[in-house]
Amino acid sequence: MTARPVPEDLLTANGLRRAFVDFFVANGHHHEASGSLLPHDPTLLFTVAGMVPFKPYFVGEQPAPWPRAVTVQKCLRAGGKHNDLDEVGRTLRHLTFFEMMGNFSFGDYFKSEACAFAWEFVTDHLGLDPERLWVTVHVSDAEAEAIWRDEVGVPAERIQRLDEDNYWRMADTGPCGPCSEIFWDKGPDFGDDGGPAHGGDERFIEIWNLVFMQFEQHEGGSMTPLPAPSIDTGAGLERILSVLGGVDSVWETDEFTRLLARIGEISGVSHGSDDRTDVSQRILADHARSSTFLISDGAFPSNEDRGYVLRRIVRRAIRHAWLLGVEDQIMPQLVDSVVEIMGPDYPELVRNHAFIRDVLDREELRFRETLRVGLSILDDALDDLADGERLTGDVAFKLHDTYGFPLELTEEITAERSVEVDLDGFRTAMADQQQRARSARKDVAASAVAEDLRAVLEA
Ligand code: GLY
Repeated sequence: MTARPVPEDLLTANGLRRAFVDFFVANGHHHEASGSLLPHDPTLLFTVAGMVPFKPYFVGEQPAPWPRAVTVQKCLRAGGKHNDLDEVGRTLRHLTFFEMMGNFSFGDYFKSEACAFAWEFVTDHLGLDPERLWVTVHVSDAEAEAIWRDEVGVPAERIQRLDEDNYWRMADTGPCGPCSEIFWDKGPDFGDDGGPAHGGDERFIEIWNLVFMQFEQHEGGSMTPLPAPSIDTGAGLERILSVLGGVDSVWETDEFTRLLARIGEISGVSHGSDDRTDVSQRILADHARSSTFLISDGAFPSNEDRGYVLRRIVRRAIRHAWLLGVEDQIMPQLVDSVVEIMGPDYPELVRNHAFIRDVLDREELRFRETLRVGLSILDDALDDLADGERLTGDVAFKLHDTYGFPLELTEEITAERSVEVDLDGFRTAMADQQQRARSARKDVAASAVAEDLRAVLEA
């Protein structure tokens, strides 16, 4: 229930993106297009939050070109400190790729204005019932508590203090600060009362995080103040859409509904018919988005760093397509859908469409060839295990080395049968193989030297 009916266009992702940007532009913010998912920042694998492209402005490495900005930023949480990969599909809200709407102040406004802007947007523009909103502040932040209570008018009993949950860090190093979150109460059908601090997790949904950026965390643990107190906020687009739509999960919001319908057509299994197939379909939907956007931003499947995460995402998606009984190539078809659905707001997808399709087509072709054989080897090995036994490191390594199964994929499959992988054994097998490869390279080098010598002597 909301204070007044939600305007129809706010129930769509592009309507909500537009409304957020328009509100902050009307309040003096510069609208900056989303930065890349691949940041120029050695401390991060991917862009994990809206503030990442602005880190140099927060820490004073570069002057901010504008005092205030608003973005809808592409984000990926699939590696490093912020990693939701394993949760995707199994929960109502986790995604690897998601969009974060945010307003930023680079030494311009601070807590009072940030709280007032957020409250005005969620109550006046989104029409959310203020009686069902709660806020949390950091245990140390009496100032933010007073602002919510005395300036914004939030009743004291709906403001709670939390510790680590209300302290936000970009990564192990970088800008950080206490934060304050706005929560939506879905109502008593969804769990215990008691607010976000004590009530049910499924009942109180965080919709907006306001970070009061004040410090830079350095390697070794020391912290220095930022050149100026600043504001970084993050409001998850998909979450807010689900709240506005009065639905339980991000999977029921407009863009996911269309993507899942397409997966239903391809697989012949409709979403919502069975818990197991639902998980596979959601993983496919999420991973189709993340791989499409990652390749568009310049990632390429490989065995290292970002490319490895991308490869892992793609291979996991293909395995779930296989579980759904999809025998033909699916990733190129899903790229077409993601581009059709999200291209209007992300023109780079339209520009890079053919290339993304091609990369995923080749990756899927290669992986499908080995998937069938690898899975049957894994199934046989699992069938042979006695109760309580672990999958040997040799088998896990063979799957990795010969069949292109990322270790995590093997672990995910074995976990479904409550079996663990002998990770030490896997590492030993990997080290042995690396040693063999080094010796082989030395042999090749030695024979190349001999070859050169013979060539010189014979000349
Ligand atoms: N930077 C704020 C957030 O990601 O929640």
